[in-house]
Amino acid sequence: MSVLRSQIIGCGAFLPRNVLTNTDLAKRVDTNDEWIVARTGIHRRHIAAEGEKTSDLAFEAATDAMRHAGIGADALDLIVVATTTPDETFPAVATAIQARLGMTRGAAFDVQAVCSGFIFALSVADNFIRAGQAKTVLVIGAETMSRLMDWSDRTTCVLFGDGAGAVVLRAGEGKGGNADRGVLNTKLFSDGRLHDLLYVDGGPSTTGTTGYLRMQGREVFKHAVTNIAAAIQASADEAGIAISEIDWFVPHQANQRILDGTARKLGIDPAKVVSTVADHGNTSAASVPLALATAVADGRIKPGQLVLLEAMGGGLTWGSALIRW
Ligand code: UT7
Repeated sequence: MSVLRSQIIGCGAFLPRNVLTNTDLAKRVDTNDEWIVARTGIHRRHIAAEGEKTSDLAFEAATDAMRHAGIGADALDLIVVATTTPDETFPAVATAIQARLGMTRGAAFDVQAVCSGFIFALSVADNFIRAGQAKTVLVIGAETMSRLMDWSDRTTCVLFGDGAGAVVLRAGEGKGGNADRGVLNTKLFSDGRLHDLLYVDGGPSTTGTTGYLRMQGREVFKHAVTNIAAAIQASADEAGIAISEIDWFVPHQANQRILDGTARKLGIDPAKVVSTVADHGNTSAASVPLALATAVADGRIKPGQLVLLEAMGGGLTWGSALIRW
């Protein structure tokens, strides 16, 4: 039996030029490099310059991914952007990218699942491809989380950063088994009862302001390890494989301790976990494609290998994607 599979044919990344180190932050709030590194693994984050918008970061990552894929805008049927920090309340960042790329057909829209956004957007794109409704899709995760920070709150402002990552998906043929190249499955979950653990205290229909990110860090941490481990297990179970058969884990880059805790819980060799959190902190929906682009560019991820992407974020939302590279 022949089936349609979404194959990743290009990855891209972009980080703003401005870098904010832990030492820089210690001048603003009561914190220090030692605490931040020990509790999070973060050394620095990139911050968008004044006037630099989420769509600017998204555009750079998108063109990088399209260059690697060797395609132009005329090949795209769909753009899906995962973001929680759009330029404007509407329209979508995706339509801004569509215009900047000169794409005059197809559709473009945003997906909102906060730090899990890229996994959700990838799942949406994969379903469009498998349904035969799109052949080539640009999926972007892009954020300017610095705009949601309360820069007087040391419990959050040291954690987040700005950035963007992107992939180009193209429909390919498969046999319907695990040997197929492309997305083998995606698993999405959410639990809206956990709103209060991680949210922004503003919005168009409440305060009429953008608001600031609020988080009960310790509680989110506990849910992260449990939920991410469950999502990884769900992907492996659906594919009928053991977790030990997965070659690379590309997690949402929130905190090195969450990456380590999840690996420990599932008996994963830490050498198989791609970590870029030290260099850009938590970039929300951008973090998975940023880490993916890094591990593809440096040659760690090779054709034929099994790659597992996962994330958890506000909502709470969480999920995973299992891909044969
Ligand atoms: O993207 C998905 C969403 N986000 C996450 O996944 C984040 C999940 N949570 C975390 O990563 C961790 O919980 C944090 C990094 C946020 C905090 O680490 P923790 O080990 O859970 O620390 P804690 O909240 O238990 O705080 C320990 C102490 C507290 O002081 P007391 O009460 O023990 O005196 C905090 O006030 O550390 C203090 N603290 C800080 N000290 C120096 C909190 N933030 C800072 C700081 N610098 N920046």
